[in-house]
Amino acid sequence: MIEQRKEEHIRIAENEKVESEHNYWDDIKFVHQPLPELDFDQIDCNTSLLGRKLSFPIIISSMTGGTQLAKKINRNLAVAAEKLHIAMGVGSMRAALEKPELADTFSVISEFNIPLKIANIGAPQLIQQSKGAFGSLEIEKAITMIDASALYIHLNFLQEMVQPEGDRRAKGILKRISEVSASFPVIVKETGNGISREAALELKDAGVKGIDVGGLGGTSFAAIEYYRAMKVNDEEKMSSGNTFWNWGIPSPASIVYSQVGLPVIGSGGLRNGLDLARAISMGAVAGGFARTLLNSADESGDAVIKNLSHTIRDLKIAMFLTRSKAVHDLQKARKVILEPLKSWIDYNG
Ligand SMILES: Cc1cc2nc3c(=O)[nH]c(=O)nc-3n(C[C@H](O)[C@H](O)[C@H](O)COP(=O)(O)O)c2cc1C
Repeated sequence: MIEQRKEEHIRIAENEKVESEHNYWDDIKFVHQPLPELDFDQIDCNTSLLGRKLSFPIIISSMTGGTQLAKKINRNLAVAAEKLHIAMGVGSMRAALEKPELADTFSVISEFNIPLKIANIGAPQLIQQSKGAFGSLEIEKAITMIDASALYIHLNFLQEMVQPEGDRRAKGILKRISEVSASFPVIVKETGNGISREAALELKDAGVKGIDVGGLGGTSFAAIEYYRAMKVNDEEKMSSGNTFWNWGIPSPASIVYSQVGLPVIGSGGLRNGLDLARAISMGAVAGGFARTLLNSADESGDAVIKNLSHTIRDLKIAMFLTRSKAVHDLQKARKVILEPLKSWIDYNG
């Protein structure tokens, strides 16, 4: 059942229009600096995240696992993460925790020398649903399965509401995140709807080590689940998918709201190196890419490397033309913020 769902998510994300209506990264315009006063080859993209050194401020966002197709995708993404020395997450590991024979579809990435590997579990699985909740034992298993240095706990409550078979319980979730964070380095991520200021403050109090905003502007899980509901003629879920297609906090605004003293990862709708530069300029330490990597990951490791090499080159061009020699210099780059993003930022959570 989970395996079939995972395969459907991949195929729908590859082939259908699943983005939200507006990509808010387009509302950020850097002021061009015609006198860069530095050499292009001096630009330094090194950074670190949770104590791990990365050659570029890039995370391959959590996407998949649990099927043979997912194993191929994870392997190809891992090839690129090793070669480029960047961070990588895997998709929700629930499938492998429930069926240990699926472990290799995730653990395939352990064969690669990746500086920061991030395990993944859904917040709904931390509390009792129709099935029992995952405890420390399962989390430990997920982390050792891929030799991870951190755990993503993903928040996807809109998706659960639109999904034909979605989980409905969320009470007590913060307490469970706090309990897990006491034993493991946790990064909480959203999956396309963003993190609010209130949530960021609560997560900090709960002891998480980082926030990945996963905001509105890119892949919409309401959209993905809309297509799945359509397949089984579930009119009620189709209607909710359609209604909430564009629900959420725009990714760049969510980066601003999430500035509570923890490292913030900017993600949700990143398409290229200019968007990555924009995310860092808003206060992110790195950017996460999901769907834009999917088609190349279905092809080969070299295709993912090529895709990300373009991203890296464009990041460097954006840095060059904003006089940013190091990644953190982008936070000083001058920029103009247009509507509708401007109003979201003025509101400031
Ligand atoms: C096919 C697919 C599967 C995904 N599966 C997961 C998952 O299992 N766990 C998770 O935390 N996020 C998952 N995501 C969400 C992404 O990590 C990311 O937060 C979201 O897609 C927004 O980024 P994007 O606009 O770059 O695609 C998935 C995304 C896609 C496209």
